[in-house]
Amino acid sequence: MLEENVLGCLIAHKGEYISGEVLSGKLGVTRAAVWKDIRKLRAEGYGIEAARNKGYRLVYSPDLLTYAEVSEGLVTAYMGRKMYHFDSIGSTNDKARELARSGAPEGTVVTAEQQQNGRGRMGRLWFSPSGKGIYATVILRPSLEPSRVQVITQVVAAAIGTALLSFGIEAKIKWPNDILLDGRKICGILTELSGELGRTYYVTVGFGINVNESGNDIPQELSDFATSIKMSAGIEIPRKKLLCAILNNFEDYYDDFIQTGSAERSIAFCRKYSAVLGKRVDILKDGRHIHACANEIGDDGELIVSLENGGRQAFVSGEVTVRSIADPYTSTNN
Ligand code: BTN
Repeated sequence: MLEENVLGCLIAHKGEYISGEVLSGKLGVTRAAVWKDIRKLRAEGYGIEAARNKGYRLVYSPDLLTYAEVSEGLVTAYMGRKMYHFDSIGSTNDKARELARSGAPEGTVVTAEQQQNGRGRMGRLWFSPSGKGIYATVILRPSLEPSRVQVITQVVAAAIGTALLSFGIEAKIKWPNDILLDGRKICGILTELSGELGRTYYVTVGFGINVNESGNDIPQELSDFATSIKMSAGIEIPRKKLLCAILNNFEDYYDDFIQTGSAERSIAFCRKYSAVLGKRVDILKDGRHIHACANEIGDDGELIVSLENGGRQAFVSGEVTVRSIADPYTSTNN
């Protein structure tokens, strides 16, 4: 699959020379067509050396969210095995929905270097500067009641959290769909479904991650709430490697969920790295603010809280703000 175009052949023989003649023979195209592709790849940021009598050699690959770049290190059976990449797009979630409608298989991923109309929850915009963050949406086709689909947000949150740990970054998960570093957001997850009562047709789960933004890449009005991995952890991570690690972990957690019918492994991760459990929170739900203590994340990913009047309530969605540090009297899992 990799050696189906000039780039695939160069990657498969990275560091070695491969002649124009061999390339044109393998691919069944003219040498002029090979040369045209080489020029296009260089314009995309690939470092390709050319030497007389030897041919071409790949010496540098850019940090792009393409299949050719992300798949190095991908160990999945289906997650990310079909990938649609765009330099710029309205929203990867919108594109994924269009592809899902026309039958794209489970695990298909849409990625973009930049989004013009990145969508957040509650109709908000997701700021998506070019080449700095990860903007990706995965198509899933679970046989799941629509009422249980929200748990997939916890599954992907666990996958992203686990992938970050593999780069030495310990992030917190703010139920239901935010990932934080130093109390500020680096990632948001947008899970959408198409279905009818009792039946899910498909799910599109999109995530936006602020990876290599610097201070001046983040709009002023967001800077109190948002940060990037680079700004908080002080390291630049290749986005392609982070996305690869996320997809590997996602397939692992998701398969476990589908095969056992329980998202226990993902939920255990979300509990362990929760930014809200044990905290006094404000939950904005249907225009109402509810003050409570976040006690537990239930088996279906719901947030179980104790209310100020002593009652308990479970939320499957809502906007949570942490109000203060832990209150020892109301924060246990009792
Ligand atoms: C949120 O925190 O409100 C969710 C943000 C989700 C943003 C991602 S970026 C990739 C995908 N495409 C979109 O339009 N939105 C999601």
